[in-house]
Amino acid sequence: MTITAHTQARLLGLPGSLRLGSHSLAVLRGLQPELRPAVDLQIGDLRLPLYDEDQDGPSTPENVRVFRQAVAESDGVVITTPEYNHGIPGVLKNALDWASRPLGRSALTGKAVLVISVSPAFTGGVRAQAQANETLLAIQSRPVLGPQVVIGNVADKIKDGRLTDEPSLRFALSAIDRLIALCPAIRKAEYAHLSLS
Ligand code: FNR
Repeated sequence: MTITAHTQARLLGLPGSLRLGSHSLAVLRGLQPELRPAVDLQIGDLRLPLYDEDQDGPSTPENVRVFRQAVAESDGVVITTPEYNHGIPGVLKNALDWASRPLGRSALTGKAVLVISVSPAFTGGVRAQAQANETLLAIQSRPVLGPQVVIGNVADKIKDGRLTDEPSLRFALSAIDRLIALCPAIRKAEYAHLSLS
């Protein structure tokens, strides 16, 4: 994470799709330059091995350790995800399963998490959104409440690999403000003076 003296909120963005031209990735890239100067959004990679409880312990794969550490060091997480067959993609579920352990010590427990679903269809991946939030509740994360950010017809809202559609950006940014308001460390720190609206 690039942290400057002025960085007050460190967010971790997790795209639920691995493909280079992913719309989910483009949404995170579109949000990055629109955030308040004090907010840093780094984008993670969910290219992790399949969850295997036999490998979860002393022999936890190195990239899983790095992923868990990135989640732990973030103040909040922004998941952007497509919908696959009316559910969340396997790569996202797999990553959430890794992040949910060690049991009782998950980096996601108590962590504020915003889910943004996207789809080239008008439905905006709303079923994946519900499923992601259900999994986050099982991990005892703190899903952001309020209007759900679902971005339908997403292919028409992206230019040069970034979300550029103003209404979608504004809607998502207001949810990120709600996410930041949920981050305990931020709430106690100076972020309040930035007057969340
Ligand atoms: C899809 N897609 C899709 N879209 C949707 O709105 N509801 C769905 O249930 C599905 N199901 C589905 C299954 C599988 C296996 C694939 C590959 C795709 C279409 C999907 O939304 C589209 O491919 C997105 O562009 C994928 O997201 P990224 O990679 O652009 O982030």
